Parts: sequence; structure tokens; C-alpha cells
Amino acid sequence: MKFSKFGQKFTQPTGISQLMDDLGDALKSDQPVNMLGGGNPARIDAVNEVFLQTYQALGQDILNAERDASIKEKHSDNTALNSMSNYSNPQGDAAFIDALVEFFNRHYDWNLSADNIALTNGSQNAFFYLFNLFGGAFSDNKLDEHNSDEQTVDKSILLPLAPEYIGYSDVHVDGQHFMSVLPHIDEVSHDGEEGFFKYRVDFEALENLPALKEGRIGAICCSRPTNPTGNVLTDEEMEHLAEIAKRYDVPLIIDNAYGMPFPNIIYSDVQLSWDDNTILCFSLSKIGLPGVRTGVIVAAPEVIAAVSAMNAVVNLAPTRFGAAIAKPLVENDRIKQLSDNDIKPFYQQQAKLAVRLLKEALGDYPLMIHKPEGAIFFWLWFKDLPITTLELYERLKDKGTLIVPSQFFFPGVDVSDYQHAHECIRMSIAADEQTLTDGIAVIGEVVRELYDKAK
Ligand SMILES: Cc1ncc(COP(=O)(O)O)c(C=O)c1O
Repeated sequence: MKFSKFGQKFTQPTGISQLMDDLGDALKSDQPVNMLGGGNPARIDAVNEVFLQTYQALGQDILNAERDASIKEKHSDNTALNSMSNYSNPQGDAAFIDALVEFFNRHYDWNLSADNIALTNGSQNAFFYLFNLFGGAFSDNKLDEHNSDEQTVDKSILLPLAPEYIGYSDVHVDGQHFMSVLPHIDEVSHDGEEGFFKYRVDFEALENLPALKEGRIGAICCSRPTNPTGNVLTDEEMEHLAEIAKRYDVPLIIDNAYGMPFPNIIYSDVQLSWDDNTILCFSLSKIGLPGVRTGVIVAAPEVIAAVSAMNAVVNLAPTRFGAAIAKPLVENDRIKQLSDNDIKPFYQQQAKLAVRLLKEALGDYPLMIHKPEGAIFFWLWFKDLPITTLELYERLKDKGTLIVPSQFFFPGVDVSDYQHAHECIRMSIAADEQTLTDGIAVIGEVVRELYDKAK
């Protein structure tokens, strides 16, 4: 069978699709595996209990409405039954959007209306839309005097701080349109201990990018906290990025999948800002609901209208199930309380455990840990490791431990001569204590042997 160029682009095997298959196979296999590779959130009992109660209330609501015609009529737009048995409009479930407007306006001074919010089937779906809206071929308004044919300009999404989220890499319908800026690497201490580093935006390199000055950047995007590193860009860095975005008249997209106010897996003391040049992307996944596939975009009405139009073509309407589950939790702020009191402390505890285990296993070796500031991952840097971390990944896999090697986290960068991109790994800290302990023990054993042999 022959596929179109579009078909070929989306079906071609990539290094990362192979890795993702490995992760999926490992989950299905009956061999014990230390799964430190995936992006699944942890199962947190207190949080799951609340979801269970919400499912039960939803089921009861549907039963009641079925039994009692008067309830059905009275709540015709509001019952779970009605929300599930009708498509929403392409912007998404209106009652959930209204609840989100009130929620955000209660906690921030953003002054939002329903025209500022659209829902998507997960935030990955949002990035597919946004990166194709702002990256790729643009028609140039200035027509060539001697030629009436339309001129096009190819624009990229600027990632101001690589490494960045692996899921961005292949979303463009045609080619890849990313430009990334490599980080400054600062050695820092963490909880009074040495052996940590933090990435910072290299603003000098960024401001001197010819593409920025020549109008070949369509949007700036960063995840904050960052997947894969657990970095949190500082408020000063965010203000500077927002100023550059305004100066060049492009939007600043903030991927807030791990940020505040939910799931709030963020330990540094920072603020979340929004204005109408900012596109904020939220997700229900990391509060523990990746299966409901619900993303939330907060942006200017023009962007919301564009996303809604894309929803209509691609999905008719986004899923209403996540909206039905999350609406009561947003209305009564439970989503924020769960994030502050259960989700954040859980990952903070996991981060402490992971630091202790890593220091015990590799404290005397050239391991550097990215300062854990948020998200559900650790980013480990093995300075001058004698093999690439892609090879390390294979050796760890043979010993039943899965991580993700660093080279795939640099969209828009030619990593062939950037050694740092071959010396790091991403390790999830969402696993249970035993898995984390066993997995780090295997990493320690393999990495120690590699360094020892190279002496
Ligand atoms: C930084 C980041 N952005 C976006 C996503 C996509 O999340 P979802 O589509 O489940 O909302 C993920 C998932 O792991 C992520 O880590």
C-alpha cells in the first residue's frame, strides 16, 4: 500500500518510537522490569480515592437522571448523562470551561472569559495544533514587485532551552520546524549538597539568532517544569522570554503540564503569569488522569477560535469525560487541594529518595544530577562516560531497567557533535519505592563498571 507524504512522515519509524515500543513491551512482559522510562504519573491512593468518589457520583447522577424524567429536564444541560450523550461544541464542554474560567479568576488576576479557554484531547493534541499553527510555511504579505506569485516564509518554533520534551519533535505535518538554544550549565548546590547542576537560558545566543531578527520564528515555547530535566525556568527568565516574544510579535507558549495550580509538581518559589500574548497549556494527565485525554488551553480569543476550528475538523469535539470528572473538582477547588497536599508532597518525597539512592550508588563517581525543581523526572549527567547513553540504555535494558537516553530530547539541534547530548539520561521518579531502589541499584552497578574499566 502506498502512503502519501503525510502518511509516510507519520508512520516512519523514529528512534523514539522504537524506544516507546520497548517501554510498552516491558509493561506487557511477565519479566520483572524496573520501569523508570515512561511518563505515566504515579498512583497516589488519596488522589485515586477522590477520583473513585467522583466516578461514583457521576454514575449516580446518570442513574438518577435516567430514573427521574423531571431531573432530566431540569438539568438538561448539566447532567453527566446529557454531557456524555451529546457532542459539545468544538471549543469543548461549556460547563467545564465556565468552571475553569471561575477557577482561574479566583486564583489569578487574569480576568478570563469563556472566549479564553478551549479543550483538547490531551495537551499533546494541543501541541499538534499550536506547532502547526505557528510553525511551517507562512505566506509573506510583501509580494515581490516583479512576480505576483505568493511568497512563503518558513517559520520555526523556538525552544529557548534545550533539552526539551520529546513529544514535540515530530508533530509538524510537513518536516520539522524547531530551532533550539543550547543551555548554560551552572553547577549548583541542592539542600546543602554538591553534585548538582541547573540549566539556564543563554539569552545572548537567543537574542543573536538570525532567524529571530529575520522573522523566521513563529512562536517561542518552553515546558515549565521541564520534561525531561525537572528544571523550572525562573520568573526572570520567563519575563525576559515574554518580552522577547512581544518584541518580535510572536506568542509565548508555556507547557504547564506539571505546573501550578494543578498538578503543582513544582518546588521552587515561582509565579505563573498570563497575558494575551501567552498561550498556557494545562493537562489533567499528571494529576493522575492521563487516560481521560484532556488538555486545557488558555489564550487570546483569536487562538481559541483557531483551536476550536481545528478541533472541529480533527475531532468534531473534544472528549467530555475528563471534563465531567474534573468539573466538580475545579468548582470546589479540590483539584488544587489534592495538588498542594497530596501530589506535590508525594513527588517531593520521591525526589528526596532518588537523590539519596543515587548518592549512595554513585556519590564517588562523576555523576551530576539536574537540580530537582519539579516534574516527575530526574535528569542525570554522566560526565565523560566512555559510551553514549544510547548504548547505556541498551545495557540497562539487558539488566531489566528502563530509562530514556538524552539524545532524543534536543528537537532542532544537530546532536552529532554535542557531547553533552550523549551523556545524560532521563529517569522517572513516579515508580514505587522498590522499583526506584532496584532500578537505581542497576544504574549504579553498570555505570560504576563503565567508569572503573576506563581508568
Ligand atoms: C511536558 C509535557 N507536555 C505535554 C505532555 C502531553 O501530555 P498529555 O497529552 O497527556 O496532556 C507531556 C506528557 O508526558 C509532557 O511531559
